[in-house]
Amino acid sequence: MKIAIASDHGGFELKEKIFNYLIKKGYSIENFGTDSIESCDYPVFAKKVCNAILNDGFEKGILICGTGIGMSMMANRFKGIRAACLSDKYSAQMTRKHNDSNVLCFGARVIDESLAQEIVDVWLETQYEGGRHQKRIDMLDV
Ligand code: RB5
Repeated sequence: MKIAIASDHGGFELKEKIFNYLIKKGYSIENFGTDSIESCDYPVFAKKVCNAILNDGFEKGILICGTGIGMSMMANRFKGIRAACLSDKYSAQMTRKHNDSNVLCFGARVIDESLAQEIVDVWLETQYEGGRHQKRIDMLDV
């Protein structure tokens, strides 16, 4: 599984930590920036990750900003992207099982590194259940 990860300045430090955490766990992951705490625009980085998923063979994406909200707003404008803004493990599990979310967003000013790691682990390891949920996912595109 190829994973794309990016952040804005608000999520930069946590993004670097999560990137290194997933590299150590053996995941194939590519960093799409940002590369410093210099102020930047979260839509630019959300678009990079969504395009990597839709056009370049990446299966999942992780986007981190201050709250995770701006990133998820941008990501969910792309048809075929199902972004979940998460701050708990239960929702991480359920959004994989029921929504087949392919982008995980969270806020570096909302959750700490330890919880972020736990959420990422659950989200990456939980499989989509399919079945009755597919009809509902098909209804998302308008
Ligand atoms: C940047 O200050 C902040 O607005 C951004 O990281 C994010 O939280 C937006 O949703």
